[in-house]
Amino acid sequence: MEEQRLITLENISKEFDGNTVLDNINLYIRKNEFLTLLGPSGCGKTTTLRIIGGFETADTGKVIFDGKEINDVPPYKRRVNTVFQKYALFPHLNVRDNIAFGLKIKKMPKQEINKRVDKMLDLVNLSGYGKRSVDSLSGGQQQRIAIARALVNEPEVLLLDEPLGALDLKLRKEMQLELKSMQQRLGITFIYVTHDQEEALTMSDTIVVMHGGHIQQIGTPKTIYDEPKNAFVANFIGESNIFKGTMVRDELVEFCGQQFVCVDSGFGENAPVDVVVRPEDVMLVGEDIGQVTGVIRSVLFKGVHYEMMIDTGNCVWKVHSTTMQPEGSRVGLNVVPFNIHIMHPMKEA
Ligand SMILES: Nc1ncnc2c1ncn2[C@@H]1O[C@H](COP(=O)(O)OP(=O)(O)OP(=O)(O)O)[C@@H](O)[C@H]1O
Ligand SMILES: [Mg+2]
Repeated sequence: MEEQRLITLENISKEFDGNTVLDNINLYIRKNEFLTLLGPSGCGKTTTLRIIGGFETADTGKVIFDGKEINDVPPYKRRVNTVFQKYALFPHLNVRDNIAFGLKIKKMPKQEINKRVDKMLDLVNLSGYGKRSVDSLSGGQQQRIAIARALVNEPEVLLLDEPLGALDLKLRKEMQLELKSMQQRLGITFIYVTHDQEEALTMSDTIVVMHGGHIQQIGTPKTIYDEPKNAFVANFIGESNIFKGTMVRDELVEFCGQQFVCVDSGFGENAPVDVVVRPEDVMLVGEDIGQVTGVIRSVLFKGVHYEMMIDTGNCVWKVHSTTMQPEGSRVGLNVVPFNIHIMHPMKEA
């Protein structure tokens, strides 16, 4: 990947009605990168995207594009195109003319416009819909037109705000692959917003995890998954058990009323920590050889594995296993040191 920084956000903060919704955001996007802003509803994803697009101004900080500050550059003069979360198609234009709109403004030859629009219609699986009025389309179809309308301009940067939100699962998966391959083929820089962690993990080069107007972690999908920086990220990316614990000393942690050997160090002595254990990393063993013992409170079959909630007295553990033990039975639980992840307690957002 090219290392060139195309867009930089520097110390961006934003308040609405006295509430801080972005608190000192710093990040950069490289040319041709697929970067995803990921986080729960209300964490500030759309606001960040709108500041990059120029539809919103930051209270403090700078937006830098290709080395130049663009804080005061209006949206239509920025070299970005946006697919909005609430896509607004032109109701008085048919599907074809909606997609062709940007190209007509640029006064592209008619033949070339037709060629490009056909290609786009094909791409979003709506060939044959060109003459339809947009009102006659389903939500998912309208959303695909909105994507086509932005992509047809072959912008340098495309901002996409939950562009697949209204699609059913199968179409969503297809469009994920399509968007990703187009992004690579056309060499467009994508800034993508979603609250779907799986979508972020499959599509992105870089993921920015946000929570309460703060960036929690920036990294590749693999780093974010394997080395979450705090309990929020661990829980948001995949399922986790998160326990309040105390780091007794290096490589020894206490949680759920028990001491466990772990591999982390440098937290100090008797320091409060968050302890993260993934459900698939807990081994069910006989009661007599478990590090802790507990009672199975519930068993759910999840297709690939069973999910069991196990009560060990002062904690409830979520455990995934391909074998199950019946509700009410007593079991032992073991976790190897390597799978006990110690994190600094999260600052409340
Ligand atoms: N124009 C506005 N006026 C007042 N508050 C706003 C405005 N725009 C956003 N907010 C508030 O800012 C916060 C962040 O909103 P934002 O739309 O960026 O979140 P989001 O991460 O995109 O959420 P979602 O996943 O629900 O789309 C929310 O609390 C929202 O209510
Ligand atoms: Mg949003």
